[in-house]
Amino acid sequence: MRNVYIETYGCQMNQADSGIVGKVLVEHGFSMVDSDKEADVILINTCAVRDNAEKRIHNRVHDLQALKKKKPYLKIGILGCMAERLKESLVKEDKVDIVAGPDSYRKIPELISQSFAVDVILSDKETYEDIIPMELNTDGISAFISIMRGCENFCSYCVVPYTRGRERSRSAESVVEQAKHLFDLGYRDITLLGQNVNSYLYKAGNKKINFAQLIVMVAQIDPKLRVRFATSHPKDISEELIDSIAKYDNICKYIHLPVQSGSDRMLKLMNRKYSLEDYKEKIRMIRNKIPDCSLSTDVIAGFCSETLEDHQATLDIMSWVGYDSAYMFKYSERPGTLAAKKYKDDISEEEKVRRLNEIIALQRDLSLKSNQKDVGKVFEVLVEGESKRDSAKYFGRTSQNKVVVFDKGSQEKGNYVNVRIESCTSATLLGSIC
Ligand code: SAH
Ligand code: SF4
Ligand code: F3S
Repeated sequence: MRNVYIETYGCQMNQADSGIVGKVLVEHGFSMVDSDKEADVILINTCAVRDNAEKRIHNRVHDLQALKKKKPYLKIGILGCMAERLKESLVKEDKVDIVAGPDSYRKIPELISQSFAVDVILSDKETYEDIIPMELNTDGISAFISIMRGCENFCSYCVVPYTRGRERSRSAESVVEQAKHLFDLGYRDITLLGQNVNSYLYKAGNKKINFAQLIVMVAQIDPKLRVRFATSHPKDISEELIDSIAKYDNICKYIHLPVQSGSDRMLKLMNRKYSLEDYKEKIRMIRNKIPDCSLSTDVIAGFCSETLEDHQATLDIMSWVGYDSAYMFKYSERPGTLAAKKYKDDISEEEKVRRLNEIIALQRDLSLKSNQKDVGKVFEVLVEGESKRDSAKYFGRTSQNKVVVFDKGSQEKGNYVNVRIESCTSATLLGSIC
């Protein structure tokens, strides 16, 4: 009963959390294995943000029950946001053995040793800051560091505040220590994670460290360490942070600033706490201080009562900003959220799909235009690995988070190379080392 396989779904924060679980288990004498076939315990770290994310997990668990028929001693555990949302019902309905919410990961060794175990108590203090996570499924170059947990923004559509609990920040020292450790192991690209990194605040005595200060502390570890971050809530992104990004070459010139909708009426119903004009003002400030900054967004299509005019406003803000990339979703009602309680999910599935497809088509165009502007330019690219399609080529990213594919030459993973861009698709830049 000592071989554990962890499968991770959902956001980057879950990736970081799976590393914490791995570390806790290894310290208790368990071994991590690379496939479900070798495992005595299969842990699935889950996401509850949309219904289709949850459906996928129910199906996966159903398939694993077949494996359990052949291996009756196999234990199946659900971790993460779905564990927190569905609690004991996962034992009754999906027949899993272990259910552990995001703040229960120190107890996993204990839970594995019990016959049925559920622990979904949320904490307002747990940050796991004393645990240096294992790097699971790693390329050895890029890594994530969770700098905070939870969310208290209560956007009306969103389940995260209920599954992740109160917002809390880790100590700045522990973040810097983890980043140094990763740099010493050869990692060169670190993403600092939080649901809203702009509200990071660490207080120790009368000392206070905010996110703009924390990111500089990490950037100062070494100029060869690239630092990224996600996610920024538009209401909180500060001039001080933008100045920090502008000042340090190794803080990446890429900001993910989810707008969600271009309509003030929708933004209000979504409880986003900014107007479209506030959002545009932030974009102007970024463009003004960091002219080569790339921008991405999240967009929701077909939120409650969204009219064609509201939808058009979303398309308009996307064109106005000219996002370099976007994550695009159709609204999925989540039980227990403010929107589920107060508003009717009244846009038909068909119409949501139609609006989403329009959004996706527009973004494809915007991404292509953005990439075409880069043709002929030279970018510093961090070599991250072999291209999946062609083993004679490497891929890497620019500071702006664009993927570049180029001939290997005599370079190695982890090197920085200058690449001249020769052509592009909407997803990738193609070039040669110069
Ligand atoms: N904290 C981050 C987002 C975390 S969830 C932020 O505020 O930006 C990632 C994205 O999923 C959200 O930005 C939103 O676009 C989308 N999302 C969240 N809940 C959703 C829902 N109920 N239906 C569809 N998309 C949703
Ligand atoms: Fe969800 Fe809003 Fe919190 Fe992001 S900021 S996790 S969208 S409630
Ligand atoms: Fe999903 Fe939870 Fe992340 S709901 S997006 S795994 S915080």
